This record gives sequence, structure tokens and C-alpha cells, in this order.
Amino acid sequence: MLVYSSPRELAAWRDRVRGMGQRIALVPTMGALHAGHATLLRAARAQADKLVASIFVNPTQFGPLEDFDRYPRQLDADQAVCREAGVDMLFCPPREDMYAGDHSVYVVEGRLTRGLCGPHRPGHFRGVLTVVAQLFNMVQPAVAMFGQKDAQQARLIQRMVRDLHMPVRVLIAPTVREADGLALSSRNRYLTEDERRRACALSQALRLGEGAYQRGVRDADEVCRQMRKHCETVAAPVAIDYVEAVDFERLEPVRTLADGVLLAMAARIGGTRLIDNILLGRERILGAFDLV
Ligand code: PAF
Repeated sequence: MLVYSSPRELAAWRDRVRGMGQRIALVPTMGALHAGHATLLRAARAQADKLVASIFVNPTQFGPLEDFDRYPRQLDADQAVCREAGVDMLFCPPREDMYAGDHSVYVVEGRLTRGLCGPHRPGHFRGVLTVVAQLFNMVQPAVAMFGQKDAQQARLIQRMVRDLHMPVRVLIAPTVREADGLALSSRNRYLTEDERRRACALSQALRLGEGAYQRGVRDADEVCRQMRKHCETVAAPVAIDYVEAVDFERLEPVRTLADGVLLAMAARIGGTRLIDNILLGRERILGAFDLV
């Protein structure tokens, strides 16, 4: 596996690969790789001739009170995960190559960011879209793979690619979970033993919502109320940012549950903010959203 930090080396490698007519798949990450990332990498591996992973803890997507400084950095362990998953080239650029001192151009989305995490993390998606656009321009992948756990992020990137005519197919891979349902996240390591136990409440609540849908319940407000109540009871003390039912196309709240509705929630347990979601009828709408 090649490991580059210089955009110039990356560009030379990319041009060689593309010159041979080969397609590149990209999995952008912030490192602290876990089994969820390994699954993304393996899924992306199957989509192209060469697999690139990037590791960059992107400062512009963290709010001033968020965990940029303590975000886990573990390059050796991450390299092992990448090697194991068949990565051909790992790109780890330094901050100054992504953001010059006078960097002044950002990608801002004005619709899908209005709800869910948007209002709770001002500027977050501007940072995400900006760095992903940079990586797409640098790596020039044919395909990029993102996880459904960050569903809003993945849909925003699909929208960016559509609206800015970026020649990249953005695929969304299913969330990987612990045996008890907790969605894998690099931030789970912040949880104490007690918080970790309480954190299961999120996935339990989502399963409860999905179960209600499968039994024929269609009232979105009622289902969200039940999910919230479950989370407040099992995860207490917990600060819930939102429990919402939105359509996966526009990420706008719906009144009636149907296939293609995303049940999504975000909550703080101790000092850790967790997000999770479930997409109703996922297997029936795969093609519409490039879900894999
Ligand atoms: O999901 C992440 O790890 C990040 O938001 C991403 C897409 C790598 C951009 O920094």
C-alpha cells in the first residue's frame, strides 16, 4: 500500500492510474478506523480498479466547542486496517495543503442542511462538503463510498455531486452495528462503561419505530414520540437533539411513514453526541439513492 501526504505525489499517481484507463474508488475518512470503515473500504474495493482511502481530521467541520483537539489520531492502526481492506493508496494530507492560510472558498448547501443535524452543528456541513469537494478534485474518483450512519452527510454529498456536476458516483453503504445494536462510530470510544450501556437506547428506539411501521402504524409523530420516550427512559440522563421522520429525498419532516422515510435521531450521553438512523423499506428503494 502506498502512503502519500503530498498532493503532488497523489496527482502523479492518480494521472498514471487514470492514464491506464483504470477507475478509482475513494473512501474519505477522518481516521480512527473501525469495522464500519473496513466494511466501507471492502464495499468500495469491489467498485473500481484502485482503492484510495484518505485520512484527514478536517478542522472546518468541527464547531469551536467540539472535539477537534481530542479526536482520536492513530495512524499506525489505521494503516493496518487499510492494508487489510485492500487499499492501494492512503492519502494523509497535512492541514496546510488542504487549507492555505488565506483559504476562502467553501461549499454551502441551502436546503438539505435546514433540518436534522444542520441547526445543531452550524457550519459543520459546510466544512464536510468543502473537504469532500477538495478530495474529489484531488483524487478524481469514479466512485466514492459513505456510510448510512451519517445519512444526512451522504445525501448532501449526493446533492453536491448532482448540483455541481461532479463526475463521481456516490454510494451509501449500510451502518455497521455492535452485537447490541449500537452503530459503530469513532466517537463511541469517548463513552464510559455506563454511558456505553445507555447508548443502546438509540438503536433500540429506531428498531421500535421500524417495528411499528412493519406492523402498519403510519403516524410519524406518534412513532417519533414513542422513540423519544424510549430513549429518555433507557438512556437517562440524556439530552436529545432530535427524533425525526424525514423523507430521504429532501430530508424534510413527513407526517406519514412510508418506504424511503428515514427515522433519525441525535442525542448527547455524557459529553458524547451520538447519531443514528434507520431507513424504512431500505431494501425496496436501493436503486433510487445508490444504496448498496
Ligand atoms: O464522515 C467523515 O468521516 C467525515 O465527515 C468526512 C466525510 C471524511 C469528511 O471529513
